Formats: sequence, structure tokens, C-alpha cells
Amino acid sequence: MILRSGRINLKRPCTPKISLSIRCYRDLPRDGFTNAPDSILALTERQLHQQPNHPLGILRSLIQNTLSHYKHLSAPSPIVSTYKNFDELEFPADHPGRSLSDSYYLNEKTMLRTHTSAHECDVFRQGTDKWLLTADVYRRDEIDSSHYPVFHQMEGACVWDDTHKDAHTAIASELQELESALKHTNIVTTDETINNNPNNPYQPTHRSLVAELIVKHLKMTLNLLVYDLFKHVQNTDNQPLQVRWIEAYFPWTGPSYELEVMWEGKWLELLGCGVMQQRTLERADVGHKSGWAFGLGLERIAMVLFGIPDIRLFWSQDSRFSSQFEAGKISKFVPYSKYPPCIKDVSFWVHTPFHENDLYEIVRECSQDLVESVECIDNFTHPKTNKNSLCYRINYRSMDKNLTNEEANDLHASVVDRLTKTFDIEIR
Ligand code: PHE
Repeated sequence: MILRSGRINLKRPCTPKISLSIRCYRDLPRDGFTNAPDSILALTERQLHQQPNHPLGILRSLIQNTLSHYKHLSAPSPIVSTYKNFDELEFPADHPGRSLSDSYYLNEKTMLRTHTSAHECDVFRQGTDKWLLTADVYRRDEIDSSHYPVFHQMEGACVWDDTHKDAHTAIASELQELESALKHTNIVTTDETINNNPNNPYQPTHRSLVAELIVKHLKMTLNLLVYDLFKHVQNTDNQPLQVRWIEAYFPWTGPSYELEVMWEGKWLELLGCGVMQQRTLERADVGHKSGWAFGLGLERIAMVLFGIPDIRLFWSQDSRFSSQFEAGKISKFVPYSKYPPCIKDVSFWVHTPFHENDLYEIVRECSQDLVESVECIDNFTHPKTNKNSLCYRINYRSMDKNLTNEEANDLHASVVDRLTKTFDIEIR
């Protein structure tokens, strides 16, 4: 059935309905920043990480059980101020994450959080020292099997009262425990980072001994966590798990790092982390403490642990997906079928450049989860006229049913129609 809007009604249960909370969001004053569509706002209600039988819920519990001495906090609303998401964490004014093409705004001052770090200062301010917080986060992004505009992160942090005379002893004795636990693993760690690297230095207010102890504690805690998660699955080459530490940059941590794991021959980025900037802790009224924080992406890990090939599946409400998982158990996803793709291209001359994420958003809005990937397959500038032409290949494929060519044509027609109405382009 084709709706008047041009969309096809595939009777999918996740068709967004306008709920009370969306109506509340809509009541917020709108301005030139407002760019969060209802279809995305509707997803704020799903709370996949809270469902005990959902792979993301199972993974969350698994991590909570591993880090059982960390307090688990429930996530506040995904609607946050731009101050909480960026300024409180010292994001520079020109950081790309702030742009309308990268983030969803309700208005100039209110947005959908782009990361769980948005809640760090509030949690520290409440006085919690060791904690985990899991939540849905929102970013405008490309379309493929590993990107979706909503995903889940777990934030974790650990701080010690630095003014306490036994602070070092406390960290050092925890380190000993971590060290002996690591001895029982066969994890292979490559650390490409340098102590007090001039490009990623310890903070001047930290005595270097403290900084070193905190970094060690952070790295060992996360090495153990990753080992504990990945022991549930076997790499095809049967080798011990390899992880690698690399230098990174985050405005509210220093030094900052990223942790990657070798999976099926490729380094997979799992998390960003670092030693909390003392300035940020001061802003949270806990300047007398120091410690570390990390932010872990759940989907990537869940895709490996459960063998889930496409990120859209997490959002499926098809019982052939949901009935496969059980609380507390890591089990391999059994694909119920792979329906054939319908590939359609759209080529156009570009009169005024636009951001690719705006194109992805239109494709998603018109086709919801019926689009598997969008790829720019040709970018050519005419040598004489200097006119730029782009060609995008859109792969329409449903995860739950066979999409007919006719249905894909209708979806594609609505995409092309929206593109021409939104951008200054000319279809070729
Ligand atoms: N919030 C960062 C991200 O989304 C990860 C991070 C968390 C980095 C905590 C440092 C400390 O990439």
C-alpha cells in the first residue's frame, strides 16, 4: 500500500507514532537550528539497552557484572543543553561535532546528546566516585551496516580523593589486584603510547607519579574488561586476543587514549578515554579528586559477540530477531533470511554544495530502515564548464521482508523528489 505521502506502508510495527514525549519536544521553541526529525525523536523511547533480552541489554548487564564495584546509574533524558554536551567539556567553538550537519538540535540551546560524556560533570557533582552510565546517543552520520543515527554508549569513570594522604596507596593496591587478574589472561597488549608524550602530556597540576598510576589503572581496568567480553567469542585465527593503545585527543581528558581490538584481521576501535582534566573536575565541584573516564560504544561489541551483521537489526521488532536472545546469555544470531537488495542510482549536477549527512538524512526519512547503504560512486567535475556531478548508489533492502522492485522504485522516487526540493541540484 502506498501512502499519500509517497511512503510505502509495510505495516512495520516500528513506524514512528507521535507519543507524548515527542509532543513535548515539539513544544520546545524552534529556531534555525531545529533539525531533529520526528522519526529520530520517536527512537528516544525505545531504550534498547534497558531490555534484558535484547543484545544491547545483555551486553550492558555483562559489563555491569564485570565491573560490579562500579555504581550503575540510569540515564537521564537524551535531551540535553548544548552547554552540557559541549561547553562544560570544553569543546572548542569550531568543533565539527557542534555543526548542524553532525548533530540533532531541537533549538540553538537544546540537542540530542551526542555522547554519554554529557552527563559526566553532573555525576561527579553528585559525589559518585566509581560509576557506569549507559544511554542512547544521537549523531547524523553516513548509512551503512555499522552506522545508525542512534547508538548506545557506556560511560565509566573512577576518581580518588587526591587530598587524602593514602590516595596513592589506594590506587596502588587496586593496581596490584588488577595486575594479578591480568596474569590469568592470555591477552596480548601493544601499547603505542608514550609516557608523558609532549603531544599528549600529563597535566601540570598532577604529580607525575599520580598521573602514571591513574593511567595504569585506566589501561588495566579496560584491558581486563575487553578480555572478559571477548572471551565469549573466538577469532577465526584462534589466536589470543590482541589489543592496542593509541594516543587520542578529547578536550576534557589529558592524556587521552583510544583502545582497539584486533578482530578478523582488522583493528576495531572500541572506546575513547583519558585522565580527567582537573579543570573539568573543578567545574563539577570535585577539584580535590582525580581519576579517569572512558566512553565505550556498545553496538560494535554486540555485533561481534552476537554475530549481528547489520546495525539496523538492533532496532528490528520482528520476533524472528528478538526471540533469539535470552538475558545473561551470549548466543550467535541466526540470520532468518537475507532478502535481495534493490540497487538504485541517483546522479545530479550540483549547483550549490551541500553536506553529505543532509543527503543521508533525506534518504533515511523517506525510506526508514529499508535502506542498507548509500555510497557516492562518482564525483566528477566537467573540465570545461567546471560543473560538479555526483552519483549516489542507494541499496534498498528490508531485513524482514522481500522488497519488490516496484516498492523500491517508489521509495527512490520519493528520495529523488525530496533531494530536488531540498538542494540546489539538477537530476541528470
Ligand atoms: N565521549 C567520547 C566519544 O564519544 C569518549 C570519551 C569518554 C573520551 C570519556 C574520554 C573520556 O568519543
